[in-house]
Amino acid sequence: MITKFRIAALALLVAPTAFAQTTTLAATPPMGWNSWNHFAGKVDDAGVRAAADAMVSSGMKDAGYMYINIDDTWEAGRDAQGNILTNSKFPDMKALADYVHSKGLKIGIYSSPGAQTCARFEGSLDHEVQDANTYAAWGIDYLKYDLCGLRTKMKTAPDAAAASKMMVDAYKKMDAALKATGRPILYSLCQYGDDAVWRWGTSVGGNMWRTTGDINDHYSRMAEIGFSQAGLAKFAGPGHWNDPDMLEVGNGGMKVDEYRTHMALWAILAAPLLAGNDLTKMTPETLAMLTNRDVIAVDQDKAGMQGDRVSTEGPIEFWSRTLADGSNAVGIFNRQDKPLSASVDFGKIGFSGGVKARDLWLGKDLGTLPSAYTAVIPGHGVLFLKVSK
Ligand code: GLA
Repeated sequence: MITKFRIAALALLVAPTAFAQTTTLAATPPMGWNSWNHFAGKVDDAGVRAAADAMVSSGMKDAGYMYINIDDTWEAGRDAQGNILTNSKFPDMKALADYVHSKGLKIGIYSSPGAQTCARFEGSLDHEVQDANTYAAWGIDYLKYDLCGLRTKMKTAPDAAAASKMMVDAYKKMDAALKATGRPILYSLCQYGDDAVWRWGTSVGGNMWRTTGDINDHYSRMAEIGFSQAGLAKFAGPGHWNDPDMLEVGNGGMKVDEYRTHMALWAILAAPLLAGNDLTKMTPETLAMLTNRDVIAVDQDKAGMQGDRVSTEGPIEFWSRTLADGSNAVGIFNRQDKPLSASVDFGKIGFSGGVKARDLWLGKDLGTLPSAYTAVIPGHGVLFLKVSK
């Protein structure tokens, strides 16, 4: 009882400042860091503090990164009243949240609508309200809610429609619980794109939803995910984004040109930019990619219009995103592993009389290009341009 009362009182204390921000939650695709891709089960309090420190000292915060997100494996069981407990890696979640906030950053956490999370830790099933209140009391700003364990329960449903309803209801239930706390908590759905979540993600309160299974640090998987996003643009916009999963930039499994493809494609897709590397050990090259202002400006463009594929010619893919100022971000991607000369027709995106272009990875204005332009694209690389009349 005492614990419950304390948590409710804390929730009241944090509510007033939080209210003011409600309407701006995820106005542009969320930017931050998540522990999973690099640390997986090794994430702990010290590592999260170090990530927060590094986000500030590296300049990532100044570039727009904001959320420090703890993924799976922080959970222990529950106390006698059913309150979720943290395991020994996280001795005091409220103190950790205070620390992250003291850096001018926000903090995220992870759970599942099932009895267990993907890594078989404690999930939120039948404790949704209690968990949402605990998160609010700790000062949590972001929840990634990962289907995993609920799939066991969904198997008991009489048919696919009933299973799907079970899932949708579970996401709605947590949304209501989060909203009832009065604290703005960004709601990130993770159910791997099942049942075309982009069609109903906003109706369950989602600010973003995973559109695919898990990414890994290999070009083949990153490209499979990224290039499969064609056609989803109309489902994204301010407050609700398609999420092709977190970044692998800097984790070491891809070449620089491949990571540039990763960042450029995610920017065209208006995808959340959640760095997934060890922020305390970044090469200057990794940091430069993650903080490239031109690239981030595309991702964060305030019109919030996701880009799409314009055309494909063999291994060359032409993608474009319309930006608020009437210009376009254009990616000419080479999916083959050796350099290839590609011809670009800017007329296809309405620029028939030539374009003014800036190379976003080189950070260089290219002057005026003819509407039919030929360039050599590195293997697995991209020519990433901002073009205007
Ligand atoms: C799933 C998610 C991942 C990560 C793990 C944690 O696989 O898709 O992003 O959260 O669970 O167990």
